[in-house]
Amino acid sequence: MERIKRRKAQGLQDRYLYDYTFANDNGQNPLMEKARAYVENWKEAYKNNTGLLLFGDVGTGKSFFAGCIANALLDRDVPVLMTNFPTILNRLTGMFSEDRAEFIASFDEYDLLIIDDLGVERSTEYAMEQMFFVIDSRYRSRRPMIITTNLKLAELKNPPDLAHARIYDRILERCAPILFAGKNFREENAGATRQAAKDLVNRKSD
Ligand SMILES: Nc1ncnc2c1ncn2[C@@H]1O[C@H](COP(=O)(O)OP(=O)(O)OP(=O)(O)O)[C@@H](O)[C@H]1O
Ligand SMILES: [Mg+2]
Repeated sequence: MERIKRRKAQGLQDRYLYDYTFANDNGQNPLMEKARAYVENWKEAYKNNTGLLLFGDVGTGKSFFAGCIANALLDRDVPVLMTNFPTILNRLTGMFSEDRAEFIASFDEYDLLIIDDLGVERSTEYAMEQMFFVIDSRYRSRRPMIITTNLKLAELKNPPDLAHARIYDRILERCAPILFAGKNFREENAGATRQAAKDLVNRKSD
């Protein structure tokens, strides 16, 4: 129990990720079946280095899907890290170069690496170089990764330059694309928020 708690604290760096669980699935996204299947067949996925590329518009449930896999595997004592490039780049800033290499190498300790929101980071030369190190070291370790992104498949297949091409090419080789084309769940949540706020501010005090 203690070990699993520790793994979770290490692997889920954002507090909200704790709520991305199958228990909280609202049942409105038919793709969630695939997340369950990935967890059920995890041993095979790990052995065959089967990754996923979750792509589609904002609010369609990509991070939720990935977070459910992360939580379910962590509950089974599998080391998982769910992070994103802005966080990684932040951590790298100010590190000495040997610490940087060690930090990137530490991702190898995780059986599954989930990178949320690929493509939101600034594509400076430095950022591209560090991203390449992370993806390439994962690629060479032959362990699975799951990527979520707002980029379109066509954009990933036709990168703007060589630096992007070297990253996207490795991802496309190892991660099977799944298109999220459903509704924007945030719009629905926003509706509920507005209603609750309206009720609250119109309440008469007594
Ligand atoms: N299957 C689901 N059950 C319950 N809530 C969900 C489900 N899928 C998504 N949500 C909720 O909908 C909102 C948007 O989902 P999410 O953050 O996963 O979208 P996203 O595709 O990652 O969006 P973005 O591209 O902007 O990162 C979140 O508040 C999330 O908790
Ligand atoms: Mg997301």
